[in-house]
Amino acid sequence: MAPMRRRRRPGFQSSQAKDLVREKYDLPLVEAVARRKNSPIRYFGLPGVQALDLRSWGHLCEYVAAVEVFPDQFQQLKHQLRTQFGTLEHRAHLGDVDEVILRNGGRNSQWTFVSTTFREDVGFIWDFDVVYLDYYGKFLPYNRGGTGVQKRARALRHLFASDRQNAWQPWLLVLTVESRLFGPQDRSQMRQFLTVSKEQADEETGTIIDYLLSEAGTATEQAARLVHGTLSYIIAVAASNSDVSISPRPTVLYRGGSNTPMLHFAYEMSPSSLLSGYNSILPLLRSPFLSVRDDHAEPWFQLLPSQPPGQTESALRATLDFLDERQINQIV
Ligand SMILES: C[S@@+](CC[C@H](N)C(=O)[O-])C[C@H]1O[C@@H](n2cnc3c(N)ncnc32)[C@H](O)[C@@H]1O
Repeated sequence: MAPMRRRRRPGFQSSQAKDLVREKYDLPLVEAVARRKNSPIRYFGLPGVQALDLRSWGHLCEYVAAVEVFPDQFQQLKHQLRTQFGTLEHRAHLGDVDEVILRNGGRNSQWTFVSTTFREDVGFIWDFDVVYLDYYGKFLPYNRGGTGVQKRARALRHLFASDRQNAWQPWLLVLTVESRLFGPQDRSQMRQFLTVSKEQADEETGTIIDYLLSEAGTATEQAARLVHGTLSYIIAVAASNSDVSISPRPTVLYRGGSNTPMLHFAYEMSPSSLLSGYNSILPLLRSPFLSVRDDHAEPWFQLLPSQPPGQTESALRATLDFLDERQINQIV
């Protein structure tokens, strides 16, 4: 009998829409961080075996921390980094990215630290200008032994902990997850979370939550609204005791590899001791929904017909202002 071949998990597959999001949406935001910093950036991300993100903005980076959870892909990623990005200072870390974020920091000597900046008073601090978490799968990973959800929320919260953060620097957080509901539990958990949040919310916020809970539109749009609402709360709460103010960018729906419906979020953080502890949930909940056009032609993005209520045109324009001028004019 022929020996059994070990099955390998296929590496990440990009799509035309993902390439557009990376080039037309993410790249201008990453460039803006480098411009504001006025020097090369420190990047924390999940490049995958092809490292397409580093092909787009590796030239803007001075240091890259790359995380990968699958061992065979980790080996390929390491090889890719060594052979294709030899001049870029980098380190690859094997493990679940939420755990890697949670373990990093302070003085714990058990781990290889992801950040490389050491401060006498607190130990290693989180020194990344761009945190690019293009996760696989669902937003809230319930099926990983029950602790996955807390871990994800805790990891996001950890990014904002001001004792470990370079709080005087602007930074960018990008997240990608699938725009799908994974069974009734996934749906009911997010609905319940938003329903409870509404009980404590003012009228304006309550109106947006009603919109996010509504069952209009396709299943992808319904999932997008629930994830958008839940993530907005996690981010606003995570940032509530940090010295940053948050500018959300539009939520983008697109088709990833294998035609999977995906969601893309970006938040720009600016240092603000004045606003410390105060990050209103409203701008996050209200940030608009875009989709990548099916024909992948210019203007690449379009506003979804249904949008969170209460957004003024000037606020909408401000949220879109990093996009190419031609697109904004055609979108708004
Ligand atoms: C979407 S792909 C990377 C795409 C790339 N950044 C780009 O711009 O095209 C995500 C990579 O991270 C890995 N990954 C996904 N979720 C992860 C997690 N929770 N922890 C660690 N690695 C993860 C996947 O195996 C995959 O190789």
